[in-house]
Amino acid sequence: MTLKPVCYDDNQHKGYREGRALDPEQMAQWAEVFAAEAPLARPLDVLDLGSGVGRFTPLLAETFGGRAWGVEPSAKMRALADAHAAHQRVAYLEGSGEAIPLPDASVDLVLMFLSFHHMPDRATAAAEIARVLKPGGRVLLRSVFSDRMPELDWHRYFPRARAVEMQMFPTLGEAEQAFATTGFRTLSLHTVEERFAPTLREHARRLRLRAVSTFEHLSEAEIQEGFARLDTALETEAAERPVRALADLLVLGRA
Ligand SMILES: C[S@@+](CC[C@H](N)C(=O)[O-])C[C@H]1O[C@@H](n2cnc3c(N)ncnc32)[C@H](O)[C@@H]1O
Repeated sequence: MTLKPVCYDDNQHKGYREGRALDPEQMAQWAEVFAAEAPLARPLDVLDLGSGVGRFTPLLAETFGGRAWGVEPSAKMRALADAHAAHQRVAYLEGSGEAIPLPDASVDLVLMFLSFHHMPDRATAAAEIARVLKPGGRVLLRSVFSDRMPELDWHRYFPRARAVEMQMFPTLGEAEQAFATTGFRTLSLHTVEERFAPTLREHARRLRLRAVSTFEHLSEAEIQEGFARLDTALETEAAERPVRALADLLVLGRA
């Protein structure tokens, strides 16, 4: 069964800012990881492809000192970015991975943070990225890969979520192959240990905002059962324990 594409204008935009907010420690961690993998020159112009509400776009302008474009197909996600993630060197543009509204060879770095798996035509997206990237540029692909699926805490309470995500995300080989056809090769693959939430209780509070597209593929009954299991866990487990997860970042460049 193929999963139907998720349109963030329908539901996902509603709780995204709060449900997926990153604290300063998480932002600093990602800025450090991105900077370690970017070309050395400064300033760098950056494309945040599938930028959503602009969680990372101002950070990219600040970290690399150049302009940052957030390209995003959902009008409601873009409106939230314009309202809450404005920056003097950032512009949010309507577009998609398959149709990037930027000139040829105009950016030094492309970030896709949990957006590549939403692109229906990954080969066309890879060709578009190749078109807009300058020589020597880099692609940072933060994704889950279905053959390297990490243990995620919330999957314990929503057991079908893992099976859904196995369908939702490409394998590492499939992602690499989409880029190989346009001359990209893998430069490195990092696994970052991310602090997802300071406590299980806080993790549960954010999950209730349903700002995870996997929820769009679960039935209401499955979701309610999952939250009931999570409530039991909060009573019986250490509700104050931090929730951590391993996050993959694939770095690609052209030979
Ligand atoms: C999980 S959100 C990630 C947003 C942002 N990168 C972040 O980390 O907060 C996935 C985003 O990908 C966007 N998206 C969906 N289809 C896309 C496509 N074909 N091209 C680019 N982005 C797409 C969605 O609208 C959504 O904003």
